[in-house]
Amino acid sequence: MQIGKPASPEELVDREDEVKSIVTKMKSKINYNIAVVGYRRIGKSSILKKAADILSKDDKTVVVYFDVQKFMGDPKSFLINLQSAIFNAYVKKLDKIGKLKAKAGKSFDFIGKIAEALSSKKIKGIGIEFMPGMSAEEFSIIPKIEFEDKDINYMPMFLAVFKTANAFAEKDNMKFIIILDEFQEIINLHRHKGLKNILELFRSIIQERGNNVSYIVCGSHVHLLRSILSNGKSALFQHFTELCVGEMNVKNSIILFNEYLTAKGLKTDDKIATEAYNLVGGQPYYLMALAESWEPGKKLSDVFGNLLSSSVGSLRLYAQYVLAEDIATAQGGPTLKSILEKLAVTDKGLSYSGLSKELRLPTSSIVPYMNELVKTDLIVKEGTVYKIRDNIVKQYLRLAN
Ligand SMILES: Nc1ncnc2c1ncn2[C@@H]1O[C@H](COP(=O)(O)OP(=O)(O)O)[C@@H](O)[C@H]1O
Ligand SMILES: [Mg+2]
Repeated sequence: MQIGKPASPEELVDREDEVKSIVTKMKSKINYNIAVVGYRRIGKSSILKKAADILSKDDKTVVVYFDVQKFMGDPKSFLINLQSAIFNAYVKKLDKIGKLKAKAGKSFDFIGKIAEALSSKKIKGIGIEFMPGMSAEEFSIIPKIEFEDKDINYMPMFLAVFKTANAFAEKDNMKFIIILDEFQEIINLHRHKGLKNILELFRSIIQERGNNVSYIVCGSHVHLLRSILSNGKSALFQHFTELCVGEMNVKNSIILFNEYLTAKGLKTDDKIATEAYNLVGGQPYYLMALAESWEPGKKLSDVFGNLLSSSVGSLRLYAQYVLAEDIATAQGGPTLKSILEKLAVTDKGLSYSGLSKELRLPTSSIVPYMNELVKTDLIVKEGTVYKIRDNIVKQYLRLAN
């Protein structure tokens, strides 16, 4: 078990309902698209990996997993990496079901198959190269995309890359499932020529995907992803079924905590595991951080305090990272920080009038800041009051002041 990396399918604790819901929908005759929504490190990618593992066991299903955030640089590298993920998943499947000719000729065989599928769909400008490896079995598949030389309009290539999945699905009568993790990051492409209306482009891909391609988009920026997907004015409205990933229940939180202890070579301890749940809730990453630092004889509350207050404490570093990342995307400078600090010291939250009193600012001037903070997921509105959403961020802010 490694903190930070998505859990492998074998390590995944619980999440049976979520995995089953994804698998059932993807196998259904109704051609669903799914949006997996949940805050950072709640376990979304781990769930996706498990669902992908189950779905790809089927010989007629190709699962493409692509992390949008990881490859969000310039549009060129984004498209090449996405194309590479599609090619690789397809070739792997052809190989698995014995559709490629025997060993030495395999590489040439799939190049032919890919070229054929692309030309049957009139997809231009996309080709394939392969790099031989140490043996005939080892080689890498590298897409070749012909971008125009200068002043590139990326739109045709953006559409073409997604269309290759349709072409392969149709040619071999397969189902393609394309998972786009941290999907909200795709909006960063809008600055580039031809991609200004990136969400509308993506909608046209969804609409023309045919019957055998489905999309699963996933994201940690809940407010942003929801506003992209379910806002009536947005281009993607109504194309996705939402699956919300929340905290784990007590029973599974205890199992997760204990599994981490076992992986460290310690005995399981239900009492400590329950205490961990009471401190941080069913958030898998926080539970693992506690299990990582706890040892027999130590008080868990001390461990927790230390993780939050020591300069190298993992929870402190994590809270700092979240605050830095999220405040950077919001408009408002130091006032945002003051608002968060005021909210951190209450458990009941503060209304506009409460905040106005605390900050000595008129209510009307606070409104835009609050709207910005809600957009970042740092705060949530409950009835008429605002609260810090994440308990660890709240505890960190308390200690930091
Ligand atoms: N159900 C689970 N079983 C085991 N480990 C989990 C589970 N859910 C999350 N984790 C662990 O928690 C961390 C965050 O999970 P991840 O799937 O990357 O979250 P997200 O994609 O929502 O940010 C990872 O270290 C992962 O190994
Ligand atoms: Mg993830």
